[in-house]
Amino acid sequence: MNFIIYLLNWYEKNQRKFPWRNTRNPYQIWVSEIIFQQTRINQGYEYFLNFIDKFPDIQTLAAASEDEVLHVWQGLGYYSRAHNLHFSAKFVCSELHGNFPDSYEKILQLKGIGGYTAAAIASIAFGERVPAIDGNAFRVYSRIFNSERDISKTRTFNYFFHLMKPLMPENAGDFNQAVMDLGAMICLPTNPKCEICPIQTECIAFCAKNQQNLPVKSSNLVIKTVSLHYVFVTDSQNFLAKKRSQSGIWKGLYEFPEMNDDFRQKKNVEIRNLTHKLTHRILDITISKIEVKSRQLQHFALAENCLIIPVNERKNYAFPKPLENFLIVI
Ligand code: ADE
Repeated sequence: MNFIIYLLNWYEKNQRKFPWRNTRNPYQIWVSEIIFQQTRINQGYEYFLNFIDKFPDIQTLAAASEDEVLHVWQGLGYYSRAHNLHFSAKFVCSELHGNFPDSYEKILQLKGIGGYTAAAIASIAFGERVPAIDGNAFRVYSRIFNSERDISKTRTFNYFFHLMKPLMPENAGDFNQAVMDLGAMICLPTNPKCEICPIQTECIAFCAKNQQNLPVKSSNLVIKTVSLHYVFVTDSQNFLAKKRSQSGIWKGLYEFPEMNDDFRQKKNVEIRNLTHKLTHRILDITISKIEVKSRQLQHFALAENCLIIPVNERKNYAFPKPLENFLIVI
């Protein structure tokens, strides 16, 4: 299995330099893996730095309020990641004396952590010899082994995990990150740069000219459209908002009240219709503006169980991305 050593040599010279690669602190590595699991490096880079600046260790994160955590996460999306980080930080501090679990199996028990993330943290922070298999690694391994197994199946994750585990070198963290970098820079989804690939001679798909057809992934995503109709009720200095308590992707964030019969009776102007694309959903959002006197704003705040937020303090509240974009331009 020469590709292991070839990849490690290539990584030594060509690795991307990132702040989370200068540390073996499991807390920082955990935060980076949670962010970059679903967010591109360019987009998440500043968020990582801000997060570590605001919450430099797990104790600080555990002691923070939900609002503070969501505020730093605002705009990154997939907010369950922030809730789970916060929950698990509190768990590690209250149940594990603040010591981050130090093995793949133990890390896997934390809320919000799956096989990929547990393996990434265990290998990078603790040197455990476990393969970290995410979308990029699936592509790299499918090609190296010329595998046509469907990567959306759990059994394919288990297959590659058990295939790679005994092959993992001592510096397993470097190896996993070499696979990530190869997937990001060379073993690209379309038009892979096989001509400069350090493991071209080891790649069975390349030898079979099958690399463009891999990995195999059954498209089993059904994308639903969800319509939301909000009202932006304002007396020109203030507006109404409420914290979303229901479960769901925006739990804990602030949003405007939803359109109902009380609002429909008011003169309203439809000012915005926007769509927001998520992985499993398309949100079709309409925002109507209702201008009222300040006494009526208070009446609505009580009736609809809303907060009155001064327009110039809107930055202190975490809103979902599309509403945040709306607030920037009002
Ligand atoms: N994506 C997720 N984890 C990463 C890491 N450690 N380095 C580069 N990209 C990543």
